[in-house]
Amino acid sequence: MRRPFVRALARPLVLAAAAAAIPLVSAAPAAPAVADGIVVGGFPIEAADSPWTVALSSRDRFGGMRSGQFCGAVAVGRTTVLTAAHCVGEDVLGSPPGEVGDLKVIAGRTDLRSAEGQEIPVRETWVNPEYDGISNAGDFAVLTLAEKLPENAVIGMAAAGDPAYAADTRATVYGWGDVTGAGDYPYSLRAARMRVLSDALCEEAYPGGADGTYRADVMLCAGERVGGRDACQGDSGGPLVAQGRLIGLVSWGSGCGRPGSPGVYTRVSDVIQKLGWERAT
Ligand code: ARG
Repeated sequence: MRRPFVRALARPLVLAAAAAAIPLVSAAPAAPAVADGIVVGGFPIEAADSPWTVALSSRDRFGGMRSGQFCGAVAVGRTTVLTAAHCVGEDVLGSPPGEVGDLKVIAGRTDLRSAEGQEIPVRETWVNPEYDGISNAGDFAVLTLAEKLPENAVIGMAAAGDPAYAADTRATVYGWGDVTGAGDYPYSLRAARMRVLSDALCEEAYPGGADGTYRADVMLCAGERVGGRDACQGDSGGPLVAQGRLIGLVSWGSGCGRPGSPGVYTRVSDVIQKLGWERAT
């Protein structure tokens, strides 16, 4: 029953791994004309302009051509990084995260072909035990880093009731994911501007199906009503930011940038609550 979701997710990752050996992915600048995206429908951005956006990497599992990047993640503390639970699941990694010897977070690197920024080993991975791979509810994990990130790399999280969660709020998603939905993984970081969408829209789009079930208490709906701007495979675990605060983690969707199929994000206020971080923020 996990299959449909897992397969939809795993295929692009396999493509990414294959691309590391056979250079079939075109270079980053050649973003196809179809949708010039992140993230679909996006634009290039420097890591320095979103220092909290970090790449999750394992060259051992995904090859070295793109620094081993396979998911996004976001720094919420100098040694604390959030990502999606499904990013560090066995279905993606092929083993428990503790057995991936070179699991790292890469910070400050715009172009994955470069050596800029920092690579910091993940010392500990905590996966939300309540993550449900069928609905995709609770799709978050906490990584503890072996070394500190720079202070300016940390982004604040929006707590429950923050106006940044309101429908229609402008939001930006960041990542190194597929820019077309056809397995075109860029080398350089991208961002896409969109809006927080109403829960009703995602409830209608995702009442329960092979891709997942929208649950407003733990998920957040974002994109554009007409489609076009969205996160995509490889962006998972990365940040959705509104009014300067973290509101979502890239989690799932049906295709990428399709009208009527918005992106679904892990609701950060629920993460804060589940982790008992209310007082800390
Ligand atoms: N599950 C995907 C990943 O692992 C993210 C998909 C997001 N899809 C979307 N249409 N917003 O990278």
